[in-house]
Amino acid sequence: MPKTELHLHIEGTLEPELMFALAQRNHVNLPYASIDELRAAYDFHNLQSFLDLYYAGAAVLLTEQDFYDLTWAYLQKVHSNHVVHTEIFFDPQTHTLRGVPFATVYQGIRQALDEAQAQWGLSSRLIMSFLRHLTEQEGFEILEQALPFLHGIDGFGLDSSEKGHPPAKFEQLFKRCQALNLPCVAHAGEEGPAEYVLDALHLLKVKRIDHGVRSLENDQLLKQLVADQTPLTVCPLSNIRLKVFPSLKQHPLKQMLDMGLMVMINSDDPAYFGGYVNDNFKACTTALNLSDQDIVQLARNSFIASWLSDAEKARQLAKIDQIWQAWKLTG
Ligand code: ADE
Ligand code: ZN
Repeated sequence: MPKTELHLHIEGTLEPELMFALAQRNHVNLPYASIDELRAAYDFHNLQSFLDLYYAGAAVLLTEQDFYDLTWAYLQKVHSNHVVHTEIFFDPQTHTLRGVPFATVYQGIRQALDEAQAQWGLSSRLIMSFLRHLTEQEGFEILEQALPFLHGIDGFGLDSSEKGHPPAKFEQLFKRCQALNLPCVAHAGEEGPAEYVLDALHLLKVKRIDHGVRSLENDQLLKQLVADQTPLTVCPLSNIRLKVFPSLKQHPLKQMLDMGLMVMINSDDPAYFGGYVNDNFKACTTALNLSDQDIVQLARNSFIASWLSDAEKARQLAKIDQIWQAWKLTG
């Protein structure tokens, strides 16, 4: 089934094998003796415990070639998962604060995205994400550095530590982003409360909510999300690894789908959370007893919620319908 991925941090695709290879290439010391020891450290108890390791791991990324290799490895994987379009986040502040120029990060990622489009027709959008544990002023500074590259940046996002860093902190920065005429999204309602989802919608004027699972705690908000068909980019395996829900069987994805919310399946940081988008589909199908119809709806939603053109959406949705009809005939 063709599908898109709409919530993916490129730094979160850094597999331990590549992290070790880049550490060696760039003469960076890692505080782990082996790949197995590193993997054993992927035992998170909340979002922050993951982010600490994720930012430390990103320290091996120094050159344009590193960013290219990282992005290319991800694109190869999702190409084999029948992902035909991906909208990926990159966190420039994670790198510029270590002295890596914005251009190095951008150009390495951009080259890989362009090659995937040329080789496989795998289309993409690139979303520049602001780190919410930093100040709004630092957000303005990185936006300034991004201006020469805006022709290749398709939108803005907001990620990192959610609790204590509400959307309101970035209201002025997102006003400036809106003025640049690029769509905005924000992580909200992952660990933070449903009010952060409301504030991301009303103060930051975002087009999509990343995660949004805690919206279930506010009935009024749920009604609004269903009525507006606001996309929620749900990441099931991520939510389990970061202890947002105790087990996949208790994940609300199926419930959200049945309520008519515009949800789809994404991998978030697949190198850290146990799988890419198809791994998420398989695990959810087993744990939540998803029907074939549910899976088709999730794939359809991934296109509807994407930033593809209306014509391309229609083309892909027709393809899914065709596959679905043929599947029903073979029974
Ligand atoms: N950065 C990378 N993954 C993230 C997540 N799941 N939540 C917030 N920030 C992130
Ligand atoms: Zn995320």
